[in-house]
Amino acid sequence: MTTRTLQKVIPSIPASDGAGVKLRRSLGASQLARHDPFLMLDEFYSDNPDDYLAGFPAHPHRGFETVTYMLDGHMQHQDNGGNTGDLGPGDVQWMTAARGIVHSEMPQQSEGRMRGFQLWLNLPAKEEMKPAAYRDIPAAQIPVVQVDQGSVKVIAGRFNGKNGAVHGGSTDPHYWDVRLEPGAVFESTLPADYNAFLYGYEGEAFVGDEKKALPHRAAGVLSMGDNVRIVAGENGARVLLLAGKPIGEPVIQYGPFVMNTREEIEQAIADYQAGALSREQVQRI
Ligand code: CO
Repeated sequence: MTTRTLQKVIPSIPASDGAGVKLRRSLGASQLARHDPFLMLDEFYSDNPDDYLAGFPAHPHRGFETVTYMLDGHMQHQDNGGNTGDLGPGDVQWMTAARGIVHSEMPQQSEGRMRGFQLWLNLPAKEEMKPAAYRDIPAAQIPVVQVDQGSVKVIAGRFNGKNGAVHGGSTDPHYWDVRLEPGAVFESTLPADYNAFLYGYEGEAFVGDEKKALPHRAAGVLSMGDNVRIVAGENGARVLLLAGKPIGEPVIQYGPFVMNTREEIEQAIADYQAGALSREQVQRI
C-alpha cells in the first residue's frame, strides 16, 4: 500500500469571471496549474450580492465538461437547447459541452450567501466533438456514505463500493465532498494511477502519513499511490477530493474553448462567430 503525499500546493487567487463574479481560482489560474484531466477549479463564496449578481450571461464552451456544485444559494442555468435548471444548495449540474453549447448561469437571489464550485474537466480528443449533453443532479440523488466520524458525498466515481451520481466515462472522474469531525482520520483506497488533488474549504486537514497541512482554499496535488489519508484538525474539515485517469494529450485553451491544437481553437472561434454553437443539439440526460 502506498499512501499518497501532498506533492504540490496550488493556492487560490482572487479572480473575476462572467460579467464580474468574484471567485477564487486555484487549478487553472495559469497554464501550468492544471492536473490532467482537471483543467480548472473555481470557488465562489460571498455574502455580498455585488460579488455575484452579474452572473455568467450567455457564453460558449467547446471541448470539455463543466461541473457546478452549489453549497448555498440558487443559480439558474439556461442553454441554447432550451434546457433550464434551477440549481439549489447541494445540487450538481454536469454539463458536457463537447462540440458546443451556449449557456448562461445566473443567480436567482438578490441577497444572502452564494457559495459553490465550478470544475472544468477535460475530454479526450476522440470525445471533444461528440454532441453536447446536460444533466441536473438534485442533492437527494447524490449518495452520502457514512464513515467513522464523518461522511462522503459521492458526486462522481466510487467510494467504498458505492457508485456516485455520475460514474464511469473515459476519465472515470471521482468527485467526493468529504466532511470530517474534529480529529477524524479518513482513509480510502484510490486507483493508483489516477491523478488526484484535494481542495480544503472548511476547517483544517492534514494529508498522508506525514500529516502535511493542506492550506485553506488551495488545491493540494497528491503524489501517486493506492491510498489516501486525511486527518481533520480540531475544528473538523471539509475537503473536496478529485481524481481521474489522465488523458495525456496536448491542451490548448483559449477562454471557454479547450482543444488539442491551435487549428481546432481557430475552428471553434469561427464556428461560434458563425452561430454554429448556438444551433447545436443539447441532449438532456
Ligand atoms: Co459556462
